[in-house]
Amino acid sequence: MNLANTTRKQLLTEVEALRDRLTETEETLEAIRNGDVDALVVAGPHGNQLYTLTGAADPYRVLVEEMNQGAATLSAEGVILYCNRYFAKLLQLPQESVIGSELHSFIIPAERNVLAGLLQTGQSSRTAAEITVQTAHAALVPVEVEFNPLPLDSPAKVCLVVTDLTERKKTEEALQERTRHVEEANRLKSQFLTNMSHELRTPLNAVIGFTGTLLMRLPGPLNNDQERQLRIIQSSGKHLLSLLNDILDLAKIESGNLKLRMEPVICQSVIGEIATSLRPLAERKALTLAVQQPARDVVINTDRRALSQILLNLTNNAIKFTEQGSVTIDLRQREDHSPTLIEIAVIDTGVGIKSEDQKKLFQVFMQVDASTTRPYEGTGLGLHLSQKLAFLLDAKIDFQSNFGQGSTFKLVLRAKPASLANP
Ligand SMILES: Nc1ncnc2c1ncn2[C@@H]1O[C@H](COP(=O)(O)OP(=O)(O)OP(=O)(O)O)[C@@H](O)[C@H]1O
Ligand SMILES: [Mg+2]
Repeated sequence: MNLANTTRKQLLTEVEALRDRLTETEETLEAIRNGDVDALVVAGPHGNQLYTLTGAADPYRVLVEEMNQGAATLSAEGVILYCNRYFAKLLQLPQESVIGSELHSFIIPAERNVLAGLLQTGQSSRTAAEITVQTAHAALVPVEVEFNPLPLDSPAKVCLVVTDLTERKKTEEALQERTRHVEEANRLKSQFLTNMSHELRTPLNAVIGFTGTLLMRLPGPLNNDQERQLRIIQSSGKHLLSLLNDILDLAKIESGNLKLRMEPVICQSVIGEIATSLRPLAERKALTLAVQQPARDVVINTDRRALSQILLNLTNNAIKFTEQGSVTIDLRQREDHSPTLIEIAVIDTGVGIKSEDQKKLFQVFMQVDASTTRPYEGTGLGLHLSQKLAFLLDAKIDFQSNFGQGSTFKLVLRAKPASLANP
C-alpha cells in the first residue's frame, strides 16, 4: 500500500515537471513568434549551443549570392528590388544597375505579355515558363523563369529564380540534329537495300529459272556430275533469294513501306502449306514433322503472307536446329482468354538454347553459333524479321527452351471479332 502511494507521488511529480517544461517551451515559441528573441541556447550532446537569427540567415544569403542560377525579388509592379550576382551576370550588367530596373525591360518585346501574366500569378502561387531575355549587349538568352509568392512584408512581393537554358537548348538541338541524321541515314540505308534487293533478285531469278530448265533437261541431256552441280547452284540460288527477300522485307518494315493486306485467313490452310513445303527438309534429316490442329476451321483476320512467313521461319529453324526426334506445329484457339487468342506453337526436340543466349535471339543477325565453322546455314535474320512482322500483326512470339532438350516458339495472335473474321 505504501509502495503504491510512493509510486503515485513520483508519477505526479514527473507530470508536474513535464507540464512546467511544456509551458516554458510554449512561452519560448511565443517569444520567437513575436520577435522578442534574438538568440536561443539549446542544450545538446556537445554542450550548450547558441543559435542566433543572424547566424541562421547568413548562410542563406551566401547561398543565394553564390547560386548558379539567377535569383531576384520583385515588387508587384515588376521592379527588381534585389538580384544575386548570377542574375546580373546573365544580363551582362553590374548588380547595382539591375536593381531598381523593371524586369520587363530585359525581356524581348514579343514575350512581355507573358511576363505580365506570370508576375500576376506569381504573387499568389508558383508559376514557371520559358522566355527569352535580352542582355545589355543585345544577346538573346533562353531562360526558364520561376515565380513564387514571397511571404514577407512589403514591398517585395515575388521571388524569381532564373535558369539559363542556353546549354540545354544547344544539347537538345544537337540531339535533334543527330536524330535527323540517323533517320535520314536509316532511310537511305532502307532505300539502298530495297533497290539493291530488286536489282539482285532479277538476275538471281534468271539463274534459278534457267538452272531449273537445265535440270528438267529441256535443252538436252545431263551427266551425273552436271546434275549434281546444277542442284547446288539451284539450292544456293534459292537460299540467296530467300535472304534477299528477308532483307527487302526488313527494309520495307523499317521505312514503314510494308503494306499489310488484312483478310480472313484459315490458319489450318497456312499451316498445311508450310508443312507441305518443309516436309522434304524434315524427311532428309529423318525427323517427323507433325501437325496438331482442331478440326473446325480457325479463322483470323490477318495478312496471310506475313503470317506464313513467320511460321515458315519458326518451322525452318525448328527443323534446322533438330538432329533427332520431331517437329510439331500445334494450333490452338484459346477461348479461355478474353479476347480469344490463337496460338501456333512450333515445338522441336532439338539442340535447345542456353539461358544466357536466350535474351539475344531476336536481335538482327544474331546467331547463337556465329562461327564460320558452324554447322547451320543462315544469317540470323529470321527471328528478327518474324518478331517485327508479329508486331505489325498485333501478335507476339513467346518461346521457351531447354538446352539439349528442345525449344518451343509460339506465335500468339489476338482473334478479331467474328464479324471481321468471317468472309
Ligand atoms: N528452334 C531453335 N532451336 C535452337 N536454336 C534456335 C532455334 N531457333 C532459333 N535458334 C537460334 O536463334 C538464332 C537466330 O535465329 P534466326 O532464325 O534469326 O537466324 P538463323 O536461322 O540462324 O538464320 P536465318 O533465319 O536468317 O536463315 C539461330 O542462329 C539459332 O542459334
Ligand atoms: Mg532462321
